[in-house]
Amino acid sequence: MHSTLTHTLLIRSFWRRPLASLLAFGLLMLPVIASAQTTIPNWYNAEHEARIDALLARMTLEEKVGQMTLLTSDWDVTGPTIRKGYEADIKTGRLGAIFNAHTADYTRKLQRMAVEETRLGIPLLFGYDVIHGFRTIFPIPLAEAGSFNPEAAEESARIAAREAAAAGLHWTFAPMVDLARDPRWGRVMEGAGEDVHLGNVMAAARVRGFQGDDLADPFTLLACAKHFAAYGAAQAGRDYHTVDISERVLKDLYLPPFESALDAGVATFMTSFNEVDGVPATGNHYLLTEILRETWGFLGFVVTDYTSINEMIPHGVAADLADAGKMAVRAGVDMDMQGAVYYDHLQDQVRAGEVDMKLVDEATRRILRLKFALGLFDDPYRYSNTEREKNNILTAEHREAARRIARESMVLLKNEENLLPLRKDLKRIAVIGQLADSQADMIGAWHADGKAEDVVTLLTGLRTAVGQNTKIDFVNVDVVSTSAGKPDFSSAVKAAGDADAIILALGETWIMSGEAASRANIGLPGQQDALVDAISETGKPFVAVLFNGRPLSIPTLNEKAGAILEAWYPGTEAGNAIADLLFGDYAPSAKLPMTFPRSIGQVPIFYAAKNTGRPKDVNNKYTSKYLDEENTPLFPFGYGLSYTTFAYGEPRVDKPAFTVNDTVTISVDLTNTGQRTGTEVVQVYVQDVVGSVTRPLRELKAFRRVTLNGQERQRVSFQLTAEDLSFHRRDMSFGTEPGTYRIFVGGDSRTQNALTISLQ
Ligand code: NOJ
Repeated sequence: MHSTLTHTLLIRSFWRRPLASLLAFGLLMLPVIASAQTTIPNWYNAEHEARIDALLARMTLEEKVGQMTLLTSDWDVTGPTIRKGYEADIKTGRLGAIFNAHTADYTRKLQRMAVEETRLGIPLLFGYDVIHGFRTIFPIPLAEAGSFNPEAAEESARIAAREAAAAGLHWTFAPMVDLARDPRWGRVMEGAGEDVHLGNVMAAARVRGFQGDDLADPFTLLACAKHFAAYGAAQAGRDYHTVDISERVLKDLYLPPFESALDAGVATFMTSFNEVDGVPATGNHYLLTEILRETWGFLGFVVTDYTSINEMIPHGVAADLADAGKMAVRAGVDMDMQGAVYYDHLQDQVRAGEVDMKLVDEATRRILRLKFALGLFDDPYRYSNTEREKNNILTAEHREAARRIARESMVLLKNEENLLPLRKDLKRIAVIGQLADSQADMIGAWHADGKAEDVVTLLTGLRTAVGQNTKIDFVNVDVVSTSAGKPDFSSAVKAAGDADAIILALGETWIMSGEAASRANIGLPGQQDALVDAISETGKPFVAVLFNGRPLSIPTLNEKAGAILEAWYPGTEAGNAIADLLFGDYAPSAKLPMTFPRSIGQVPIFYAAKNTGRPKDVNNKYTSKYLDEENTPLFPFGYGLSYTTFAYGEPRVDKPAFTVNDTVTISVDLTNTGQRTGTEVVQVYVQDVVGSVTRPLRELKAFRRVTLNGQERQRVSFQLTAEDLSFHRRDMSFGTEPGTYRIFVGGDSRTQNALTISLQ
């Protein structure tokens, strides 16, 4: 063990911004951040603060509580109850924000009620779950993370913002930055998967994409980092279930993507449904005030998740709604989503002296701050423009981007004997399974205004790609729904027997992942394994294309299929993007953002595991293993094939020993050993060999997509700083420790290609 813990740290800039620079920004007028060390987001404007002061001075308590209230319209349903009468609440100034309402016309109509019919004319804020596209739907965020391409995530978020903002929206409830290591949890589809570093990079990229450089630009949206915090750690992967993790795990793993979003300037945070150390996140002062505001200096506002103030009653920490509301406002919740608890109780509580008026003023200020930043006080209708709506939604350019990003997000899991790519001049192709022609299933959950009718299915994509002389036999057999009984596979088997290529469309229907969509079994649902058996009995090799929102356990498919392409839910351009890959117009380049287990009993399984005191030894019974299963996954994090192959040289380092102030350069020669052009995601993992606390066997710290022509070689370099080696040490301080670190460089998280460096 290291004897000293004396290293000082290079930590993210916002932890370290000295008070002096706050003074330079004239920000010490804000008591809330006087003690915090923060980066000032570009949407903070001291002139607005003066206008907010003037407005606050004119507002009644009722109007302030109105600003702290968010209700859904009846246009879309994303939760259990709908409070009727929201239009009346707008007109009386008792409602400051609406979600699940869009279109330029409708938002203009509601905005007019707020601006023209209320005493102060404070504009409404319109929010919506714009998660992976608004009308042009992109791959689900988990898939996009597999591209390991932050520019792609930024671009899709920017296009989503462009479309949503043209339909009257100001605010998206995205990105979801919850680390997720349990594939049973349906919401793994909404995030970047199991890894902290990939999560950090993607969180920042999506915030930049949604918010752009300037929130006053009416083609941008406020982003929302959710769900704060640790929602992804729900026990047994069951949605809304209890979370029980250590402070170290919270800080080392679950909080960093939120910090990264904050660093990128995210304007809002959403609380999570779960508890953290016995206290529901929505009533959690430690999270919402001590960490988020006092330590990180967050200047935006915090919204609850859907009725999560009310849910503190069943959680068992509040006796009634009034009690729950008090807990939330004192913890640091600025806006109540759909619970109407502030609406019903907050005024009385302030009048009775139970809640400090200062809390209400501060929350109202934070909300108004963002309404000012959006330019709504200058022109409340600037987002509600029908002309703009017509010209900016589902454009050819947006569809082209959706196709390109979908291609980059699909992972080739298996390709025996180069079964893929297929030739375009084959005589007959058999396409089997309902998912091959199901438009609705391609856009996955949280598809906002995405419409099934816009979608190119796999079948359509294939038909468009091949010539007149190729016959495509589609066998539309329902094998996914679990209640379908034993389907008749005879036409599928016949079509397969007659075909030159066989493509099976397998996976989950869209409704099987997302919110409230946990699964206790994560194999292929329904009769799909039986179909796989039936087709494999023909003795012909077949290609499986998978559509799903989570890692699946697919040992049978892996044994029997010749090739497997993980397509996830690819979005509006699904079929075209898959055809691009299946026919080899593009070579697959994505890697897995989450581990695929062999069996459900291995879950949770993730690459950044600890070694334990008894690492597996096949010759020693008393070591950490299963009697009936391997420890290793079916496919590891970071894994994915291409149509070419890559070879790695030995990694090199510019100096073998370094100090906390140095930057270390790691380099490796990468060679495309095949004939065709391909893209490899080069990954750098670090292992801290001996720490004051146990450390993961490896952690991703850097990656880069590198495109090489056949036989081309390139030296790829990465820089690591002490920050990359920092963690919460035994005394909970954050920093490095001197000692030996192993650096692994390769094409997935199993690579053994390593060198050793020492930190002094
Ligand atoms: C509940 C979900 O947990 C959250 O992610 C979403 O933004 C809200 N509902 C609003 O739809």
